[in-house]
Amino acid sequence: MSTNITWHEGSISRTEREKLLGQKGLTVWFTGLSASGKSTLASALEQQLLHLGSSCYRLDGDNIRFGLNKDLGFGQKDREENIRRIAEVAKLFADSTTIALTSFISPYQSDRDVARKLHEDSGIPFIEVYVDAPLEVVEQRDPKGLYKKAKMGEIKEFTGVSAPYEPPPSPELHIRTDKLNLKESVKIILDYLIEKKYIN
Ligand code: PPS
Repeated sequence: MSTNITWHEGSISRTEREKLLGQKGLTVWFTGLSASGKSTLASALEQQLLHLGSSCYRLDGDNIRFGLNKDLGFGQKDREENIRRIAEVAKLFADSTTIALTSFISPYQSDRDVARKLHEDSGIPFIEVYVDAPLEVVEQRDPKGLYKKAKMGEIKEFTGVSAPYEPPPSPELHIRTDKLNLKESVKIILDYLIEKKYIN
């Protein structure tokens, strides 16, 4: 716990920064089972947003665990800390007027609530996107062979097999990746961002 620290306010407010840079920061938080399509969707959305001239940056579960969160495993406490750190990082990106795209399983509702509150308390939009495909479908996809390993007991606490996934009860967007193709899924998110006037 840090003590004797004081918050240092900058000389430019977020509103002024947004006006000067002509863009708004926010976080699009993808949540869903492994192989549900979070990273694919975030990556395609990132490409589209950049082509539209919006500054955005992707924070991805596997990638972040190579660096910033390499000290964390997959027990509940470590997942909680994983999400807490990512929420803080995403908020910093969004505060800088970038669109942060996070793709983490983030299986616990309480952790996602913490991430949302952190943003909303600072007036930063938080858009939760539930990337949904039934367990049978993601087990079939199994691009990294992880479900197979988990079922054979080679990976402990694997989400959906031996660890829980709590579906979000009221996400801003719910995308069934077993029913929609990638283009359709990205369009739903882009349309939402335009409708809410987060992007032009
Ligand atoms: S979490 O639950 O949000 O903290 O997980 P996250 O940081 O998104 O990391 C998920 C990726 O880690 C790989 N992996 C596992 N996932 C779930 N459970 C266990 N036990 C596990 N072990 C390794 C897996 O590649 C996940 O990536 P995705 O892209 O979701 O498939």
